Amino acid sequence: MLPGKRRTTFMSLAAAVFGAVMLQSVSSQNAGFIKSPMSEVKLTGDTFELYCDVVGNPTPEIQWWYAEINRADSFRQLWDGARKRRVSINTAYGANAVSVLGVTRLGLDDSGTYECRASNDPRRNDLHQNPATTWIRAQATITVLQKPTIASSEHTTLPSDSHSPPITLQCNLSSAHGAHEESFWMKNGEEIEETRTANRNTEYKLVKPRGDDAASYMCVYTFETAPPANATIEVKAAPDITGHKRSENKNEGQRAVLYCKSVGFPYPNWTWRKLDSGAFMDIDNSSGRFSVSNKDNYTELRIDNLDISLDPGEYQCNATNMIGTSSITSILRVRSHLAPLWPLLGVLAEVIILVVIIVVYEKRKKPDDIQDDDEPAGPMKTNSTNNHKDKNLRQRNTN
Ligand SMILES: *[C@@H]1O[C@H](CO)[C@@H](O)[C@H](O)[C@H]1NC(C)=O
Ligand SMILES: *[C@@H]1O[C@H](CO)[C@@H](O)[C@H](O)[C@H]1NC(C)=O
Ligand SMILES: *[C@@H]1O[C@H](CO)[C@@H](O)[C@H](O)[C@H]1NC(C)=O
Ligand SMILES: *[C@@H]1O[C@H](CO)[C@@H](O)[C@H](O)[C@H]1NC(C)=O
Ligand SMILES: *[C@@H]1O[C@H](CO)[C@@H](O)[C@H](O)[C@H]1NC(C)=O
Ligand SMILES: *[C@@H]1O[C@H](CO)[C@@H](O)[C@H](O)[C@H]1NC(C)=O
Repeated sequence: MLPGKRRTTFMSLAAAVFGAVMLQSVSSQNAGFIKSPMSEVKLTGDTFELYCDVVGNPTPEIQWWYAEINRADSFRQLWDGARKRRVSINTAYGANAVSVLGVTRLGLDDSGTYECRASNDPRRNDLHQNPATTWIRAQATITVLQKPTIASSEHTTLPSDSHSPPITLQCNLSSAHGAHEESFWMKNGEEIEETRTANRNTEYKLVKPRGDDAASYMCVYTFETAPPANATIEVKAAPDITGHKRSENKNEGQRAVLYCKSVGFPYPNWTWRKLDSGAFMDIDNSSGRFSVSNKDNYTELRIDNLDISLDPGEYQCNATNMIGTSSITSILRVRSHLAPLWPLLGVLAEVIILVVIIVVYEKRKKPDDIQDDDEPAGPMKTNSTNNHKDKNLRQRNTN
């Protein structure tokens, strides 16, 4: 352990040295790669993007160069818009220099070596300088392979009014750049379990096709040394609304949420309407209280701050795709703020009515009217009960 005083001196010295080094590196720093482009294998028709991220002070300049495979002596500079506008170069110069090279609609002759060059050397564009000493370089190899051909079944449409016969979806891998590993099926982007096989020809059966079998199906073939290849088969069907809220009961000021969900493919366009003097009309959103959110096969209508005079009624969700249309209604009931008090008010009203009846009855009652009345009338009429007793007594006496 250093004694206290010497330790603080040492620390401040260290801090000063560190600060000086930092200052040095901030004031000027050679270009260095943070991220360099990565080699990839692609299929014809696909797209690739290469990233290059460089630090340095001043901010380095970035260039992209290309050489055909095995022709490292023949690098040529690439520019934005080259190769019939299939090449794009986007570079941002900030604290770092970051550049993205993109090439679309790949052909076999896009294969080659792509090089990111960066420099902040003031002599970098001096023709007497050897570029190798003033530019740093990072390379990636892009290999473009012929896309395999897959023969696949035609798109189909399920009948909406009758049962569909079984449907068999087929894919045959007819040509490929090399041996494939296996294939599997996907439905709406998710793998279907237990469909993996090593065969070149593969099938997926829809035994009893129904609305929820309508989807975008894809067969995918995987390869050892190349990207997977796929083919899409669409099984279309008119939308069928399979879930909704029959009715929604809310208090005024609350929020109501109505929803509908459907089967069918492609996913429908959703609309909501409201029954207004016998016809369904577009919803009047002048109050801004209505909001709709749609997600593929699901739609939700929210009404905020419910208004008891405007909002109750029938709402209709409508699902429409290129094959057909379907709609269904929900009923919205809105209760007054006082609704929770109603049971209490009811009891109160009953009591009042009872009291009134009794009072009126009592007022109108004359001794002669109650000759046949054997019943004691109630606990509130102690006096009259006594009268009754007297009369009963009298009656018995007369009998
Ligand atoms: C796939 O190959 C099988 C067997 O050769 C053939 O019967 C079927 O028609 C082919 N399917 C397609 C979609 O080409
Ligand atoms: C299907 O192939 C296309 C074109 O090659 C590709 O962009 C896509 O990622 C592939 N999809 C799957 C799930 O493999
Ligand atoms: C609706 O779509 C989601 C995913 O998009 C899916 O998980 C769900 O099963 C679908 N529901 C119906 C009724 O088709
Ligand atoms: C209704 O208006 C509000 C506020 O202007 C808006 O946020 C909402 O998206 C609108 N709803 C519909 C269904 O257009
Ligand atoms: C669904 O909406 C989109 C965009 O509003 C429109 O282009 C398309 O034609 C609609 N499709 C159907 C079947 O109505
Ligand atoms: C749904 O809305 C569309 C477009 O307004 C209309 O053509 C269709 O008849 C409606 N469908 C139903 C079942 O009401």
